[in-house]
Amino acid sequence: MGIKALAGRDLLAIADLTIEEMKSLLQLAADLKSGVLKPHCQKILGLLFYKASTRTRVSFTAAMYQLGGQVLDLNPSVTQVGRGEPIQDTARVLDRYIDILAVRTFKQTDLQTFADHAKMPIINALSDLEHPCQILADLQTIKECFGKLAGLTVTYLGDGNNVAHSLILGGVMMGMTVRVATPKNYEPLAEIIQQAQQIAAPGGKVELTDDPKAAAQGSHILYTDVWASMGQEDLADSRIPIFQPYQINQELLALADPEAIVLHCLPAHRGEEITDAVMEGPQSRLWDQAENRMHAQKALMVALLGLV
Ligand code: CP
Ligand code: NVA
Repeated sequence: MGIKALAGRDLLAIADLTIEEMKSLLQLAADLKSGVLKPHCQKILGLLFYKASTRTRVSFTAAMYQLGGQVLDLNPSVTQVGRGEPIQDTARVLDRYIDILAVRTFKQTDLQTFADHAKMPIINALSDLEHPCQILADLQTIKECFGKLAGLTVTYLGDGNNVAHSLILGGVMMGMTVRVATPKNYEPLAEIIQQAQQIAAPGGKVELTDDPKAAAQGSHILYTDVWASMGQEDLADSRIPIFQPYQINQELLALADPEAIVLHCLPAHRGEEITDAVMEGPQSRLWDQAENRMHAQKALMVALLGLV
Protein backbone atom coordinates (compact mmCIF):
# COMPACT_ATOMS: atom_id res chain seq x y z
CA MET A 1 0.00 0.00 0.00
CA GLY A 2 2.80 2.42 0.96
CA ILE A 3 2.09 6.11 0.70
CA LYS A 4 -1.42 5.71 -0.78
CA ALA A 5 -2.70 4.31 2.51
CA LEU A 6 -2.12 7.73 4.09
CA ALA A 7 -4.80 9.47 2.02
CA GLY A 8 -7.47 10.99 4.26
CA ARG A 9 -5.69 10.10 7.50
CA ASP A 10 -4.60 12.32 10.40
CA LEU A 11 -1.10 12.72 11.84
CA LEU A 12 -1.61 13.45 15.52
CA ALA A 13 1.46 11.54 16.71
CA ILE A 14 4.51 10.13 14.94
CA ALA A 15 3.42 6.54 15.56
CA ASP A 16 0.22 7.18 13.62
CA LEU A 17 2.54 6.15 10.77
CA THR A 18 3.66 2.59 10.27
CA ILE A 19 7.37 1.99 9.77
CA GLU A 20 6.79 1.43 6.04
CA GLU A 21 4.71 4.59 5.73
CA MET A 22 7.41 6.62 7.46
CA LYS A 23 10.04 5.29 5.08
CA SER A 24 7.82 6.07 2.08
CA LEU A 25 7.16 9.57 3.40
CA LEU A 26 10.88 10.25 3.83
CA GLN A 27 11.50 9.07 0.26
CA LEU A 28 8.67 11.31 -0.97
CA ALA A 29 10.19 14.27 0.91
CA ALA A 30 13.55 13.59 -0.77
CA ASP A 31 11.89 13.37 -4.20
CA LEU A 32 10.02 16.64 -3.63
CA LYS A 33 13.23 18.34 -2.50
CA SER A 34 15.21 17.13 -5.52
CA GLY A 35 12.40 18.06 -7.90
CA VAL A 36 11.93 14.51 -9.21
CA LEU A 37 8.26 14.87 -8.24
CA LYS A 38 6.28 18.08 -8.69
CA PRO A 39 2.69 17.41 -7.64
CA HIS A 40 0.12 20.17 -8.06
CA CYS A 41 -3.12 20.88 -6.22
CA GLN A 42 -5.67 23.60 -5.55
CA LYS A 43 -6.31 22.63 -1.93
CA ILE A 44 -6.73 24.91 1.07
CA LEU A 45 -4.66 24.43 4.22
CA GLY A 46 -5.78 25.99 7.50
CA LEU A 47 -3.30 26.87 10.24
CA LEU A 48 -4.80 27.05 13.73
CA PHE A 49 -1.96 27.84 16.11
CA TYR A 50 -2.52 28.49 19.82
CA LYS A 51 1.24 29.00 20.28
CA ALA A 52 3.85 31.08 18.47
CA SER A 53 5.66 29.61 15.46
CA THR A 54 8.10 30.71 12.79
CA ARG A 55 9.33 27.52 11.11
CA THR A 56 6.17 25.45 11.24
CA ARG A 57 3.90 28.28 10.15
CA VAL A 58 6.10 29.50 7.31
CA SER A 59 7.24 26.08 6.08
CA PHE A 60 3.65 24.80 5.89
CA THR A 61 2.62 27.99 4.09
CA ALA A 62 5.49 27.91 1.62
CA ALA A 63 4.98 24.19 0.98
CA MET A 64 1.28 24.65 0.18
CA TYR A 65 1.97 27.67 -2.06
CA GLN A 66 4.59 25.62 -3.93
CA LEU A 67 1.98 22.89 -4.44
CA GLY A 68 -0.35 25.49 -5.96
CA GLY A 69 -2.76 25.67 -3.03
CA GLN A 70 -3.84 28.40 -0.61
CA VAL A 71 -3.36 28.88 3.13
CA LEU A 72 -5.69 30.41 5.70
CA ASP A 73 -4.37 31.74 9.00
CA LEU A 74 -6.95 30.72 11.62
CA ASN A 75 -5.06 32.17 14.58
CA PRO A 76 -7.29 31.95 17.70
CA SER A 77 -6.87 35.69 18.25
CA VAL A 78 -8.85 36.32 15.04
CA THR A 79 -11.28 33.38 15.11
CA GLN A 80 -14.13 32.49 17.48
CA VAL A 81 -12.25 29.50 18.86
CA GLY A 82 -10.17 32.04 20.81
CA ARG A 83 -13.41 33.29 22.43
CA GLY A 84 -14.44 29.84 23.53
CA GLU A 85 -16.33 28.36 20.57
CA PRO A 86 -16.02 24.61 21.21
CA ILE A 87 -13.44 22.68 19.22
CA GLN A 88 -16.04 20.19 18.00
CA ASP A 89 -18.12 23.00 16.46
CA THR A 90 -15.06 24.74 15.00
CA ALA A 91 -13.81 21.48 13.49
CA ARG A 92 -17.15 20.68 11.86
CA VAL A 93 -17.47 24.14 10.34
CA LEU A 94 -13.88 24.37 9.09
CA ASP A 95 -14.34 20.93 7.52
CA ARG A 96 -16.93 22.47 5.16
CA TYR A 97 -14.49 25.11 3.88
CA ILE A 98 -10.96 23.76 3.83
CA ASP A 99 -9.17 20.55 2.86
CA ILE A 100 -6.54 20.02 5.56
CA LEU A 101 -5.82 21.58 8.96
CA ALA A 102 -2.60 21.90 10.97
CA VAL A 103 -3.14 22.61 14.68
CA ARG A 104 -0.54 23.76 17.21
CA THR A 105 -1.90 23.44 20.72
CA PHE A 106 -1.28 22.35 24.30
CA LYS A 107 -3.35 19.23 24.97
CA GLN A 108 -3.09 16.16 22.77
CA THR A 109 -6.75 15.46 23.56
CA ASP A 110 -7.72 18.71 21.80
CA LEU A 111 -6.08 17.40 18.63
CA GLN A 112 -8.10 14.22 18.97
CA THR A 113 -11.27 16.29 19.33
CA PHE A 114 -10.46 18.10 16.07
CA ALA A 115 -9.84 14.75 14.39
CA ASP A 116 -13.03 13.21 15.78
CA HIS A 117 -15.18 16.02 14.39
CA ALA A 118 -13.61 16.66 10.98
CA LYS A 119 -13.25 14.33 8.02
CA MET A 120 -10.32 16.29 6.57
CA PRO A 121 -6.79 15.34 7.65
CA ILE A 122 -5.67 16.96 10.93
CA ILE A 123 -1.94 17.45 11.49
CA ASN A 124 -0.26 17.94 14.85
CA ALA A 125 1.86 21.05 14.34
CA LEU A 126 3.19 20.63 17.93
CA SER A 127 1.44 19.73 21.15
CA ASP A 128 2.75 19.38 24.69
CA LEU A 129 3.09 15.64 24.00
CA GLU A 130 4.64 15.46 20.52
CA HIS A 131 6.09 17.32 17.55
CA PRO A 132 5.82 14.75 14.75
CA CYS A 133 6.38 17.16 11.81
CA GLN A 134 9.69 18.19 13.36
CA ILE A 135 10.90 14.64 13.60
CA LEU A 136 10.06 13.84 9.97
CA ALA A 137 12.34 16.72 8.94
CA ASP A 138 15.01 15.59 11.42
CA LEU A 139 15.02 12.05 10.05
CA GLN A 140 15.21 13.43 6.51
CA THR A 141 18.23 15.53 7.55
CA ILE A 142 20.00 12.62 9.24
CA LYS A 143 19.42 10.41 6.22
CA GLU A 144 20.86 13.08 3.93
CA CYS A 145 23.99 13.29 6.09
CA PHE A 146 24.63 9.58 6.68
CA GLY A 147 22.78 7.90 3.80
CA LYS A 148 20.94 5.71 6.30
CA LEU A 149 19.08 5.77 9.63
CA ALA A 150 19.19 2.21 10.99
CA GLY A 151 22.21 1.54 13.15
CA LEU A 152 22.92 5.20 13.96
CA THR A 153 22.92 6.56 17.51
CA VAL A 154 21.17 9.86 18.18
CA THR A 155 21.65 11.48 21.58
CA TYR A 156 19.04 13.91 22.83
CA LEU A 157 20.18 16.14 25.70
CA GLY A 158 17.99 18.31 27.92
CA ASP A 159 14.29 18.28 28.71
CA GLY A 160 12.27 15.11 28.10
CA ASN A 161 9.65 17.13 26.21
CA ASN A 162 7.46 16.93 23.10
CA VAL A 163 10.43 16.95 20.71
CA ALA A 164 12.19 14.24 22.74
CA HIS A 165 9.04 12.12 22.68
CA SER A 166 8.66 12.21 18.90
CA LEU A 167 12.40 11.71 18.38
CA ILE A 168 12.37 8.62 20.59
CA LEU A 169 9.42 7.09 18.77
CA GLY A 170 10.48 8.06 15.25
CA GLY A 171 14.09 7.05 15.89
CA VAL A 172 13.35 3.55 17.18
CA MET A 173 10.87 3.01 14.34
CA MET A 174 13.78 3.63 11.95
CA GLY A 175 16.05 1.18 13.80
CA MET A 176 18.13 3.83 15.54
CA THR A 177 19.49 3.87 19.07
CA VAL A 178 17.99 6.89 20.81
CA ARG A 179 19.92 7.93 23.91
CA VAL A 180 18.19 10.46 26.11
CA ALA A 181 20.14 12.34 28.76
CA THR A 182 18.00 14.43 31.11
CA PRO A 183 18.28 15.61 34.69
CA LYS A 184 16.37 13.44 37.16
CA ASN A 185 12.65 14.32 37.16
CA TYR A 186 12.84 15.67 33.59
CA GLU A 187 12.77 12.29 31.86
CA PRO A 188 10.45 11.60 28.92
CA LEU A 189 7.06 10.17 29.89
CA ALA A 190 7.16 6.51 30.90
CA GLU A 191 4.28 5.77 28.51
CA ILE A 192 6.41 7.03 25.57
CA ILE A 193 9.32 4.75 26.57
CA GLN A 194 6.92 1.83 26.84
CA GLN A 195 5.42 2.64 23.44
CA ALA A 196 8.93 2.92 21.94
CA GLN A 197 9.76 -0.57 23.15
CA GLN A 198 6.59 -1.89 21.53
CA ILE A 199 6.98 -0.23 18.12
CA ALA A 200 10.77 -0.33 17.65
CA ALA A 201 12.10 -1.80 14.40
CA PRO A 202 14.77 -4.50 14.80
CA GLY A 203 17.87 -2.80 16.25
CA GLY A 204 15.89 0.24 17.41
CA LYS A 205 16.19 1.01 21.12
CA VAL A 206 15.94 3.78 23.67
CA GLU A 207 18.47 4.33 26.45
CA LEU A 208 17.84 6.74 29.33
CA THR A 209 20.54 8.31 31.49
CA ASP A 210 21.26 11.41 33.57
CA ASP A 211 24.90 11.40 32.41
CA PRO A 212 25.37 13.76 29.43
CA LYS A 213 28.98 12.77 28.79
CA ALA A 214 28.26 9.05 28.68
CA ALA A 215 25.30 9.77 26.38
CA ALA A 216 27.39 11.82 23.94
CA GLN A 217 30.19 9.24 23.73
CA GLY A 218 30.57 7.97 20.15
CA SER A 219 27.13 9.26 19.14
CA HIS A 220 26.42 10.17 15.49
CA ILE A 221 23.95 12.95 16.22
CA LEU A 222 23.69 15.30 19.19
CA TYR A 223 20.27 16.92 19.46
CA THR A 224 18.85 19.44 21.90
CA ASP A 225 15.87 21.71 22.47
CA VAL A 226 15.04 24.55 24.85
CA TRP A 227 15.05 23.79 28.57
CA ALA A 228 11.63 25.41 29.07
CA SER A 229 9.03 24.91 26.37
CA MET A 230 6.22 27.24 25.38
CA GLY A 231 3.86 27.49 28.33
CA GLN A 232 6.71 26.89 30.82
CA GLU A 233 8.35 30.32 30.52
CA ASP A 234 7.93 30.96 34.28
CA LEU A 235 10.21 27.99 35.00
CA ALA A 236 13.00 29.03 32.61
CA ASP A 237 15.33 30.78 35.09
CA SER A 238 15.07 28.13 37.78
CA ARG A 239 15.86 25.41 35.25
CA ILE A 240 19.14 26.90 34.00
CA PRO A 241 21.39 25.52 36.78
CA ILE A 242 19.66 22.12 36.65
CA PHE A 243 20.15 21.76 32.90
CA GLN A 244 23.59 23.41 32.55
CA PRO A 245 25.53 20.08 32.41
CA TYR A 246 23.39 19.07 29.41
CA GLN A 247 24.47 22.01 27.23
CA ILE A 248 25.84 21.05 23.79
CA ASN A 249 29.22 22.76 23.73
CA GLN A 250 32.52 21.95 22.05
CA GLU A 251 33.69 19.87 25.01
CA LEU A 252 30.63 17.62 24.83
CA LEU A 253 30.73 17.47 21.03
CA ALA A 254 34.36 16.29 21.20
CA LEU A 255 33.10 13.10 22.90
CA ALA A 256 30.82 12.24 19.99
CA ASP A 257 31.80 10.42 16.80
CA PRO A 258 34.31 12.55 14.81
CA GLU A 259 31.75 12.76 11.95
CA ALA A 260 28.88 13.63 14.31
CA ILE A 261 26.34 16.29 13.38
CA VAL A 262 24.40 18.62 15.69
CA LEU A 263 20.67 19.25 15.42
CA HIS A 264 18.30 21.62 17.24
CA CYS A 265 14.63 22.04 16.35
CA LEU A 266 14.92 25.81 16.97
CA PRO A 267 14.24 28.41 18.24
CA ALA A 268 17.44 28.16 20.32
CA HIS A 269 18.45 29.97 23.46
CA ARG A 270 22.05 30.54 22.47
CA GLY A 271 24.37 30.10 25.43
CA GLU A 272 21.87 27.91 27.29
CA GLU A 273 21.16 24.51 25.72
CA ILE A 274 23.68 25.10 22.89
CA THR A 275 26.65 27.42 22.48
CA ASP A 276 27.16 29.92 19.67
CA ALA A 277 30.34 28.10 18.67
CA VAL A 278 28.52 24.80 18.13
CA MET A 279 25.57 26.42 16.35
CA GLU A 280 27.93 28.19 13.95
CA GLY A 281 30.48 25.37 13.81
CA PRO A 282 31.22 22.88 11.03
CA GLN A 283 29.18 20.06 12.58
CA SER A 284 25.96 22.07 12.81
CA ARG A 285 23.21 21.03 10.38
CA LEU A 286 20.58 23.30 11.92
CA TRP A 287 19.74 25.28 8.79
CA ASP A 288 19.35 22.20 6.57
CA GLN A 289 17.19 20.76 9.33
CA ALA A 290 15.00 23.89 9.33
CA GLU A 291 14.75 23.82 5.51
CA ASN A 292 13.64 20.20 5.60
CA ARG A 293 10.57 21.14 7.61
CA MET A 294 9.17 22.46 4.32
CA HIS A 295 10.02 19.37 2.28
CA ALA A 296 8.86 16.89 4.91
CA GLN A 297 5.56 18.70 5.52
CA LYS A 298 5.00 19.05 1.79
CA ALA A 299 5.39 15.28 1.55
CA LEU A 300 3.00 14.83 4.45
CA MET A 301 0.33 17.04 2.87
CA VAL A 302 0.77 15.36 -0.53
CA ALA A 303 0.27 11.97 1.13
CA LEU A 304 -2.66 12.93 3.40
CA LEU A 305 -4.41 14.72 0.52
CA GLY A 306 -3.93 11.66 -1.70
CA LEU A 307 -2.01 13.55 -4.38
CA VAL A 308 0.32 10.60 -5.11
N1 CP B 1 10.85 23.98 15.43
C1 CP B 1 9.68 24.62 15.35
O1 CP B 1 8.62 24.01 15.38
O2 CP B 1 9.80 25.96 15.23
P1 CP B 1 8.62 27.01 15.33
O3 CP B 1 8.16 27.05 16.76
O4 CP B 1 9.24 28.33 14.90
O5 CP B 1 7.51 26.59 14.41
N1 NVA C 1 9.84 22.09 23.04
C1 NVA C 1 9.63 23.34 22.36
C2 NVA C 1 9.68 23.14 20.89
C3 NVA C 1 9.50 24.38 20.06
C4 NVA C 1 9.56 24.12 18.59
C5 NVA C 1 8.30 23.92 22.78
O1 NVA C 1 7.33 23.16 22.90
O2 NVA C 1 8.21 25.12 23.01
